[in-house]
Amino acid sequence: MTRNPSRVAIPALALLAAATATALAADLPQLGKSPTKDVVAAMTREEKVSLVVGAGMRRPGLSADRQGPVVGETAKGVPGAAGTTVPISRLGIPAIVVADGPAGLRIQPKREGDASRTYYCTAFPIETLLASSWDTDLVERVGRAMGNEVKEYGVDVLLGPALNTHRNPLGGRNFEYYSEDPLVSGRMAAAMVNGVQSQGVGTSVKHFVANDHEWNRNVIDVKVSERALREIYLRGFEIVVREARPWTAMSSYNKVGGTYTSEDPALLTNVLRDDWGFDGLVMTDWFGGRDAVAQMKAGNDLLMPGMARQQESLLAALASGALPEAVLDRNVTRVLELVRRSPSFLGSAHSDAPDLAAHALVARDAAAQGMVLLRNEGATLPLRTPAKLALFGNTSYRMITGGTGSGDVNEAYTVSLVEGLKAAGLAVDGALAEGYGTHIAAEEKKQPAPARPFQARPPIPERAVVPEEIARAAREADAALVTLGRNAGEGRDRKVEDDFLLSAAERAVLQDVATAFHAQKKKVVVVLNIGGVIETASWRDVPDAILLAWQPGQESGHAIADVLTGRTSPSGKLATTFPMKWEDVPSSANFPGKTLEGPDPNAQQQGPFRSGDRAAEVEYLDDVFVGYRHFATRGVKTAYPFGFGLSYTTFQYSGLKLSGATFAGELKATVTVKNAGRSPGREVVQLYLSAPGKALPKPALELRGFAKTKTLKPGESETLSFTLTARDLASFDEASSSWRVEAGTYTVKIGASSEDVRLTATFTKAREEKVASVSTLAAGPVKTAGGLVQAAPDSSATLRVFRGIPYAEAPVGDLRWKAPQPVKSWPGVRPGDKFGPRCMQRAMFNDMEFRSNGMGEDCLYLNVWTPARSGKERLPVLVYFYGGGYRAGDGSEPRYDGASLAGKGLVALTVNYRLSVFGFLAHPDLSPMPLS
Ligand code: BGC
Repeated sequence: MTRNPSRVAIPALALLAAATATALAADLPQLGKSPTKDVVAAMTREEKVSLVVGAGMRRPGLSADRQGPVVGETAKGVPGAAGTTVPISRLGIPAIVVADGPAGLRIQPKREGDASRTYYCTAFPIETLLASSWDTDLVERVGRAMGNEVKEYGVDVLLGPALNTHRNPLGGRNFEYYSEDPLVSGRMAAAMVNGVQSQGVGTSVKHFVANDHEWNRNVIDVKVSERALREIYLRGFEIVVREARPWTAMSSYNKVGGTYTSEDPALLTNVLRDDWGFDGLVMTDWFGGRDAVAQMKAGNDLLMPGMARQQESLLAALASGALPEAVLDRNVTRVLELVRRSPSFLGSAHSDAPDLAAHALVARDAAAQGMVLLRNEGATLPLRTPAKLALFGNTSYRMITGGTGSGDVNEAYTVSLVEGLKAAGLAVDGALAEGYGTHIAAEEKKQPAPARPFQARPPIPERAVVPEEIARAAREADAALVTLGRNAGEGRDRKVEDDFLLSAAERAVLQDVATAFHAQKKKVVVVLNIGGVIETASWRDVPDAILLAWQPGQESGHAIADVLTGRTSPSGKLATTFPMKWEDVPSSANFPGKTLEGPDPNAQQQGPFRSGDRAAEVEYLDDVFVGYRHFATRGVKTAYPFGFGLSYTTFQYSGLKLSGATFAGELKATVTVKNAGRSPGREVVQLYLSAPGKALPKPALELRGFAKTKTLKPGESETLSFTLTARDLASFDEASSSWRVEAGTYTVKIGASSEDVRLTATFTKAREEKVASVSTLAAGPVKTAGGLVQAAPDSSATLRVFRGIPYAEAPVGDLRWKAPQPVKSWPGVRPGDKFGPRCMQRAMFNDMEFRSNGMGEDCLYLNVWTPARSGKERLPVLVYFYGGGYRAGDGSEPRYDGASLAGKGLVALTVNYRLSVFGFLAHPDLSPMPLS
């Protein structure tokens, strides 16, 4: 490891000196004994800065500029933890330890010089599987077990749960996230936080916000409409913050609307704290963002894992006045509040010996509850025992228990599929097992050592099975089981070929096995051991049954056997749509985004903390139509819809009742579910709402509630109830910056899936209602009394936006001008018209109201006239709108009311719908006008 001792040592030594000189001074305020403000007042600037910058990270290959100020601190605490804060012992402030992650605690399982014990943790199922259980009690139970390990291993904060959005099946970290739907994500995350924090340790809800794929995650600018941001991407975080009060949140790597989330006060202060009442601490993702001073001001209290240069820049900014000390004190106070509630501060003893055996049972049960039965022709499952199975597919012999990267867990063991089946009374074909074993061992030997931390190993080439081998197995075994596996992880997204799609070798094995077994009148079961959605439509009719086992954690083999044999009746349902083809997913047209300059930096993989350093952006043109919101609204066929999952029994729904015919603040819905089959089972019931959709384009239906029955015996019923609040009826209205409920008729749809609505009932809302106003996002509507379009020499230009007099105050932000865009259709604009840098001139505008967050694929312009400051002439200006993206579900045109402005002395432009003024272009014939 390269180190620069003089660079990193100064702050650490200064602290040490200060600490030893005064450590025993009796009159010094002490954290927890004295008011926190006195502790802050007693701190030197260096100490304050040391507290808001983590203690650094020790990692092979970490560049010198990323070294921490107190390198090695982490190693001294809990080896393998992701980071620690810096202690200030003279004021009674201990270091606290934070560690990953969503599927279980990630620490080093063995410690140097400590052969007597191990520090293994339970690998629980991935979050996507947990969400598929739709069982918040279960997730809370998992959280309690996980939190117990956090506590017993001396860690203070677990870096999870993660709740970004399954926007596209290829998202490399989708396995670490719950769902495509924010209600599912938010409720699952809340249950997890409640469970973990019940153990007296903290959580960090991450990655706030819009880190929905990995490509260029450190630089990517996510351009998303404010409505989609609020309704889809922020909503889950809002639910978990309001319902479970996580101790911390982690800002994401990416930018939203041109600003790093870790540097954005609108997100971290206005939305998170002011609107939602978050009272915890915000930390950065590891090495996230660029500008430590901006991060401090934005309310990103703690910079992790901590770098010497961050300390240096904060100290310089304090000295120059660029960073007000009050801002630093606010953040220091938040770090101290976190420290005060931590086990490290409270002196809680930890055993280093959590009850791993008990937690394994929790992991097994959770895994079985979240598996989804996708197909079960002719009651193929459950398998009758005893029986002999022929196992095909590499993954049958190398289960993938979880994804790679920081979401990985160092577990003591994993239960293989063969072990699980055998324990459940099923024999397996030994010759096949041996053949696969030899193949896998030989291929593993060929695999190069990972070039970078967190790098996933490439998949082992699928073993080709000769026809004679299949024919023999088909004669000897009672049924075939083909496992298809997929892995992914941090730093890289998945791809379509050989990943979303089956490889040719996989197709061949599946087809050959099915032909041979079906010829013997024997069944074929596919087990999907995957972390994210794959294509199923082209092959799903080949096998008789498909069990989506996801990545089930260390108890994989047992949990899969539990479901295959019927010990557990499958009750999971999809929390993410399986499309017919990748192109049907609405985000696929703009996934993962594009670099704005130079080649794709990910051409050379740069490691998890540096996946790209060229400007890149992605436009969320899918807007609020993510997942089933798209498929249902536009009638696009799915392979398996959101909310879908089979059971070994069947359920009848009846008696949907609403507490009223009109909505007055709240409405209750009740429905009765009966087990109408012959075996016990549980059913997930979903409540969708269809709004009138007149004021704003609305998805055809949106999930507004869900519940899962207890295990119902044959013939047994349970009545489930749901409560709808005004917020459930509301959409975010950008024009008024508020959540609004429109008047009209609403339909409650009780579904077994988003495409299997069993019962409906309607109610009316008499009057339109504003539910809540919210803080303005920087990317939201901005009023300005002046602005300046800066000409740029190349194809990019900047619209610098000011509130008030240009340059007299700091700009509100910069808007990037894009490359020429074709015009689709708009009154007065010919299809094919293009805007481009040619049009760019310097021009001024006055008193415009505009939105800076618009994006979409349609652009248009109209001529408006700005008044010349001199009053002599008006300057014709092309106003470039950029917005929309789709014509809502109903095909209506976007509306705007700017046209009437032409020729008026003062331009006041209001833009409706989600059209947004994106840039202001001077007419090519104009000459620049100086600022007066
Ligand atoms: C990941 C975070 C994780 C952190 C610490 C980052 O690379 O994005 O999710 O908590 O590392 O390991």
